[in-house]
Amino acid sequence: MSQQDEQVDRGRRAVNWLLGSSLGVLFVSMLYPIAKYLIPPKLAEPTTFSVTLPWKLAELKANSGQIFRFRSRPGILVKTAAGELRAFSAVCTHLECTVQYREERQDIWCACHNGVYDLNGKNVSGPPPRPLEALKLNVRGDQVIVMKG
Ligand code: FES
Repeated sequence: MSQQDEQVDRGRRAVNWLLGSSLGVLFVSMLYPIAKYLIPPKLAEPTTFSVTLPWKLAELKANSGQIFRFRSRPGILVKTAAGELRAFSAVCTHLECTVQYREERQDIWCACHNGVYDLNGKNVSGPPPRPLEALKLNVRGDQVIVMKG
């Protein structure tokens, strides 16, 4: 092969490489927006959330419990016999039934499998493996606000 043929061959390889690279870049530039569209970004769940309960503070009688909606799940507001307010997720930690307040026993009870929690949300008998998730409370005037985060 002559020196001139080698130069032509090198030139062809360079042109082929450039064309191949350009097509690769073009392909990736077309694929990227499609992939971004098809794979939605992960949205972080807000770390804080609050809800104003529909009951006025004065309406809540001692030794009672109320179920409310907290995000898409139930929550439970308990006013103890001593008048103290507490709020928890009302989702049983066993198999996610909704718990309820039992006035006669002053505890939180899950009817599904007879799980029992004390008024601190601690699992005290039955199958629930963990305490209820505690929620924060804020009382502003006569309004009761429940928060997480
Ligand atoms: S779901 Fe509550 S005790 Fe089983």
